Amino acid sequence: MKLQGKTALVTGGRGGIGRAIVSRFQQEGAYVYAADLSEQGSLGIENQECGHFLKLDVSSEENVKAAFTRVTEEQGKLDILVNAAGIEIEKTIEDTTLEEWNRSFAVNVTGTFLTSKYALPLLRAAVTEKSTASLINFGSYDGFIADPGLAAYCATKGAVHALTRAMACDHGPQGIRVNAICPGYIDTPMLQSFFEGEGSGGEGGTIESLQQAVRDVHPMRNYGTPTDIANLVNWLASDEARYASGQLWVLDGGLSAQVQQMKL
Ligand SMILES: NC(=O)c1ccc[n+]([C@@H]2O[C@H](COP(=O)([O-])OP(=O)(O)OC[C@H]3O[C@@H](n4cnc5c(N)ncnc54)[C@H](O)[C@@H]3O)[C@@H](O)[C@H]2O)c1
Repeated sequence: MKLQGKTALVTGGRGGIGRAIVSRFQQEGAYVYAADLSEQGSLGIENQECGHFLKLDVSSEENVKAAFTRVTEEQGKLDILVNAAGIEIEKTIEDTTLEEWNRSFAVNVTGTFLTSKYALPLLRAAVTEKSTASLINFGSYDGFIADPGLAAYCATKGAVHALTRAMACDHGPQGIRVNAICPGYIDTPMLQSFFEGEGSGGEGGTIESLQQAVRDVHPMRNYGTPTDIANLVNWLASDEARYASGQLWVLDGGLSAQVQQMKL
């Protein structure tokens, strides 16, 4: 078991990707907090075996402070922080209200800032001569190249990428590795909402035809699963990845490697 004796906290821990990460960390022997707005998370299903639930709104400084006070009292250290909480507004900037723009940044960027800020003393407390601490943010392939109709989301993910590199520089000397996972299309409630949303570009077609078109455009001819993401997160969280830091890890079935939508 790669994570025996380690403590981890996963924000968005009851979401599609978050649950897969929490379960994998538990299988690897870690003590895991699943931090989310509600026990049901985006899937709308309770699963009390999926981590120790911690009610948390990552955009609230008060909430974040209280969460890490609990971790300090119960564990005294944190080896792994995964910032997977996120929201997606499916609109162009003309259609995005200032409130929606600010909310996107409050959750995706400020949330990552706040949890990282208050986790850092606990992450430092976990570092030993043999072991680093690992902080893993969630960017997106949308932080590199844009999907139509996701303007605010793309902007937040670009910010998370830049913040990841900056944090890796600042905290590497303290033994803390900082990386970002940049998924492509992963089958979760967020992806289903994208398919159903106005920004999907699916005018005239059915959701099924749009889903098939998205599969077809991938070199691997499919989108990914939360388990695919959890596998990479698990490695980055473990001591096997002791020299991996400051990187944006794209996991997208080859999507961003090709010239897209061109039928040759
Ligand atoms: N699914 C994809 O295709 C995809 C692609 C690229 C990036 N991502 C990123 O991966 C991460 C996980 O996405 P997912 O697909 O599992 O989404 P999801 O919607 O299934 O889960 C997100 C979780 O975050 C929680 N959350 C939202 N706002 C919160 C807040 N203020 N405080 C605490 N928790 C909050 C939700 O309750 C939900 O359980 C996100 O950062 C997302 O942007 C997903």
